[in-house]
Order: sequence, then C-alpha cells, then structure tokens
Amino acid sequence: MSWRRAGPVATTVGGSGADGQATAGGASSPAMVDGFGRRIEYLRISVTDKCNLRCVYCMPEEGLPWLRRDDILTYEEIAEIVGVMARMGLRRLRLTGGEPLVRKDLTRLVALLSAVPGIEDIALSTNAVLLARQAHALRDAGVSRVNISLDSLRPERADAIARRPGTLAKVLEGLDAAYAVGFEPIKINVVLMRGQNDDEVPAFAELSRDRPLHVRFIEVMPTESNLELSASNFLSCEEALEAVRAVDELAPVAGPPGNGPATYYAFPGALGTIGVITPMSHNFCSRCNRMRLTADGHLRPCLFGEMQTPLRDALRRGDDLVPLVAETLRIKPEKHLLVQGSAIGSGGLVALSQTGG
Ligand code: 5AD
Ligand code: SF4
Repeated sequence: MSWRRAGPVATTVGGSGADGQATAGGASSPAMVDGFGRRIEYLRISVTDKCNLRCVYCMPEEGLPWLRRDDILTYEEIAEIVGVMARMGLRRLRLTGGEPLVRKDLTRLVALLSAVPGIEDIALSTNAVLLARQAHALRDAGVSRVNISLDSLRPERADAIARRPGTLAKVLEGLDAAYAVGFEPIKINVVLMRGQNDDEVPAFAELSRDRPLHVRFIEVMPTESNLELSASNFLSCEEALEAVRAVDELAPVAGPPGNGPATYYAFPGALGTIGVITPMSHNFCSRCNRMRLTADGHLRPCLFGEMQTPLRDALRRGDDLVPLVAETLRIKPEKHLLVQGSAIGSGGLVALSQTGG
C-alpha cells in the first residue's frame, strides 16, 4: 500500500503550542483547573492492566498480579465517570492499558464514550499486535487517532524487547491497517534504550520522511520492575537527536495535534515528524493537562506518586462523584519526583501498565 498523503508537515512552531494544549477554546468549565492553574481537559483511561506483550521496560516477564474481574470498571461505569467529568469540562480521552485491545469488544466502549456530550476526541495507545483486525470498527465507533509502541525495526530485537515471538510482523500489519482506515495522526512511540535500540534511532527517524508518521523518542522512566534497565541503559533524547542531526538537518515544527508533552522536529520536506518526550532530562510537568483513570477505577492526578481517589465503590453506591473529582484535581502535585535508577518517586509503581503509561 502507498503510504503517501498530501503535503509536508507545517514547518513553523504554531501559536497554540506544540502540544495543542491551548486549542480547546473557552467552552470548558473552570472546575477542571488544578491548584497550579493547569487546565485538565484530558483523561487517560486504562481499560485493562493485562497485556499480550512483556516489554522489558514495562512489565516483568512473569506478568503482574492481575486485577480481579469484579474490581475492573465495566464499560458502562467508565462511560458514567466520563459523563460526570465531561460536565465539569473534560474534553479529550485516550484509551490505554496494559494493552487496551486485549479487553473484549473495546469498540463498544468507544461507542459509549463517543456518545458522551462534551467529548470531542478519542485516541488509542496500543502495541498494535491486535489492531489489524479491529482498526476499522474502532475508527467507525469514534477513535480518531492512534499511538503505536514499537522499539525496534529488526524482527529478532523487537521480539526480544517485547519478550514475545512474531511481534514485529504483527505490529507492522497493525500499522498498515491504521493507515488504511485513516487514523490521523499516527504516532510511533520508541522507548530509548542504550545497547538495545540506540543504533536504530536514525532508521526510526527516516520513517518520518516519506510517510505521514510521527516518530517519538521517549526517555525510559524508572519503575520498581525496571530499575537496572532504566539506570544502565538510559539514553537521553538529546543524544538521540544528535544521532538524527548527523543524518540530516532538523527544524523545529509544531507537530501533529495531540495532548502530549512532546517537542517536535522534521527533516526538510518530510511528511512526518520526529518528536522527543523527556520526562527525565527536562521535566514538563508545568504543562501537564491530564489525569488518569485506572482499570479498577482509581482517579490518579499524576502518573507517579501514591495519590489516587477510589471512584469505583462510590459510583457503585450511587454517590455524587463531582466532589471526589474536584478534590483529586485540587491535590494534583506540581511535578513528579522521579530519580534515575531509583524507585523513590515512582510511588511504589511496579510497572507503567498499572496506570496506563
Ligand atoms: N518508560 C517510558 N515509557 C514507557 N512506556 C511504558 N513503560 C515505560 C517506561 N518505563 C511507554 C510505552 C507506550 C506508552 C504507553 O508508555 O512504550 O508507548
Ligand atoms: Fe504491554 Fe505496552 Fe507494557 Fe509493552 S509497553 S508490555 S505493549 S503495556
């Protein structure tokens, strides 16, 4: 299939901010502003803690003690929580996991969320292994764009990083399907690991030249299950960018629309972009625009740390959730306190799959 789409990407840094945070307009309620004046209109929803891969930086090989079925929010419950938050000013959603596509009939959840008044955008973060089969239905139900995790373009390496055979072939099939059904933008997340994929940085960057793909390099974050890797194999985005600049000139660009903290660049005339996400070397918490909902119904104001508000039981009792959401916003911390090579700051988080990354 042809991967070309019309026109190169914009080559100026746009007025609405490279991450599109300021684009939502004035319609939102002041209720969704946190204690540091940040507008929180974006919710990442983890629909399952399970995953069909075991990426070395994310999950231990043996998996994790999975949540019990009854403890996981039903699709109706997720939609109800989103409804409450949308009335408070929530506008954009991202479905994450674990791996969201391992949960049965995710399309049904997307349809429920699409029908919530006020929700303008639904995105999906996936490893794409199961995407080819579901892409069309997800697009029809209301997913507009996808982020796909891919850490190597070499089959044996991709399989070793994901600790599952046949990974690369399936991911590439998923990626083609994503393009074919018209998800836009499509972003590829590459977690940087010295000695594992650092020599592929230029090859990943090249993907953005002839295809409307947005390749984002991510600095690995420490959790309790990856301390050795996140310390010894750490590679900064600065180093990755140096390797890309050795190939060709890079200009700062506005980048694709989205909700994230990435900073974008592009090769001259390229159809896609190259982004960097630097949680470790350049803290971007001052621009944070999000909260997280875990699969078992905890609302988390920050990816890291111990703060979380249990919403599930309150919802099942029929309590008003508005004060709980408002209180979670109020306690949202100013920034994370991650330290390279240390579990301190991660708040006891064993793996990012527990909170949806
Ligand atoms: N550090 C950085 N990124 C991570 N991800 C998962 N675990 C980590 C980690 N420890 C990324 C995945 C995926 C996104 C949801 O989070 O690669 O792209
Ligand atoms: Fe699964 Fe994503 Fe974690 Fe890999 S990074 S193990 S694909 S949840």
